[in-house]
Amino acid sequence: MGVKVSMTVNGKQVSSEVEERTLLVTLIREQLRLTGTHVGCDTAQCGACTIAMNGKAVKSCSMLAMQAEGADIMTIEGVAKPDGTLHPMQAAFKENHGLQCGFCTPGMVMNAIDFAKRHPNASEQEVREALDGNLCRCTGYHNIVKSIMAGSKAMAAGK
Ligand code: FES
Ligand code: FES
Repeated sequence: MGVKVSMTVNGKQVSSEVEERTLLVTLIREQLRLTGTHVGCDTAQCGACTIAMNGKAVKSCSMLAMQAEGADIMTIEGVAKPDGTLHPMQAAFKENHGLQCGFCTPGMVMNAIDFAKRHPNASEQEVREALDGNLCRCTGYHNIVKSIMAGSKAMAAGK
């Protein structure tokens, strides 16, 4: 039997009927059709499904949709301004070639924004440690780290 869940997603109030076992990522991708949030594993390891819940980065494959009842959710689709201006972290990934195929990128950006808010002056080593839960098969991480350092600076400067 279905359960009704309600939450705010990218600033809009949404309600949906889910099964008790429905994962948050499934609700986001299949019911809300916000497919920028990716699924790269089924073991909560890759971080491709990272979203922000009440301002904190979480892996949406490791939560039930029901656990997000009443929450404020932001997915990668809600990060840029409504006029399309990129968030400083997105702009930093673009400028520093922080992506290749792009599969990991939404999760990387969501994690990076949360990290940069909490650690505005992080060292390269701290950024690398923060990426522990986000896997990238393409880039070798060098430009991702560069992007996050630049994005963090831009965020701290209020850009
Ligand atoms: S799909 Fe969630 S961590 Fe891989
Ligand atoms: S850019 Fe391809 S997986 Fe990271």
